[in-house]
Amino acid sequence: MVTHPTPPPTPPQTALITGASSGIGKALAHQFARDGYHLVLAARSVAKLQALADELQQRFKVVVTVIGADLETNDGAAQLHADIQARGIVLSALVNNAGFGAFGEFKDSALPSDLAMMQLNMNTVVVLTKLFLPDLLATRGKILNTASTAAFQPGPYMAVYYATKSFVLSFSEAIASELEDTGVTVTALCPGPTASGFQDKAELGNSALVKGKNLPTSEAVAALGYRAMQRGQRVYIPGFMNWALAQSMRFTPRNLATKVVKLLTRPVA
Ligand SMILES: NC(=O)c1ccc[n+]([C@@H]2O[C@H](COP(=O)([O-])OP(=O)(O)OC[C@H]3O[C@@H](n4cnc5c(N)ncnc54)[C@H](OP(=O)(O)O)[C@@H]3O)[C@@H](O)[C@H]2O)c1
Repeated sequence: MVTHPTPPPTPPQTALITGASSGIGKALAHQFARDGYHLVLAARSVAKLQALADELQQRFKVVVTVIGADLETNDGAAQLHADIQARGIVLSALVNNAGFGAFGEFKDSALPSDLAMMQLNMNTVVVLTKLFLPDLLATRGKILNTASTAAFQPGPYMAVYYATKSFVLSFSEAIASELEDTGVTVTALCPGPTASGFQDKAELGNSALVKGKNLPTSEAVAALGYRAMQRGQRVYIPGFMNWALAQSMRFTPRNLATKVVKLLTRPVA
């Protein structure tokens, strides 16, 4: 009789998901839990996170830790890292997903709001990636950063938001290259407009980008993004039209691309 050695048990894997209280982050939490990952869920809405944690623990028998964190403050990301370390949790996946946008002309937006967006969408991504990289190198882990199709060109009426997402895409691709021989993969998920809490928060109701449009669900986008992360794909754009538009931007003169986005995003009655 041929005997096969028993494979060593896989150590439990833990993923941190920022912005897990709604939308794409919440849907990503379901994807990870279904695959047996333990989770750390972070956002400001602790009651929503706790309800999600209870559901995932019951359905998938995984350990879920909830941490209230305001990641648009200067030290929010470092505090979150310290809190996770103090609990003795070692990450094998980091999901930088928390983010927000704002619709309107740059001249009309409040500077503190612009700066908070930059802090959350960019600085927090860099700080968490820097501080958790030793864990991820030790576990040959995965990084999933939620960028956007906004990353591929300038965005009139959402100028700061588009610029933050260009940053996330560029940063993700660059560190993916640096880390290519370490076993750590980095995936930039670049969704187009997706049904979530994002539109209300961004006050996008009057933008041609979403008005009257049938948007894909957060669940569909998260499922595709999760699979791209598991494959180690560096850049993933869900949806053929989103992909085609992003590709076409590579060959379009910058000023023309900007005009197209202005038209697509413009305020409509
Ligand atoms: N929906 C779209 O059309 C779309 C398209 C492309 C990319 N994205 C990106 O997808 C990501 C997720 O957004 P979503 O669409 O799922 O929108 P969402 O439903 O509004 O979710 C945003 C998440 O970010 C968290 N968040 C916001 N401010 C935070 C803060 N100061 N500290 C900690 N967490 C904070 C929110 O939690 P709390 O409010 O509880 O803190 C929430 O969990 C964002 O990075 C967004 O830019 C969205």
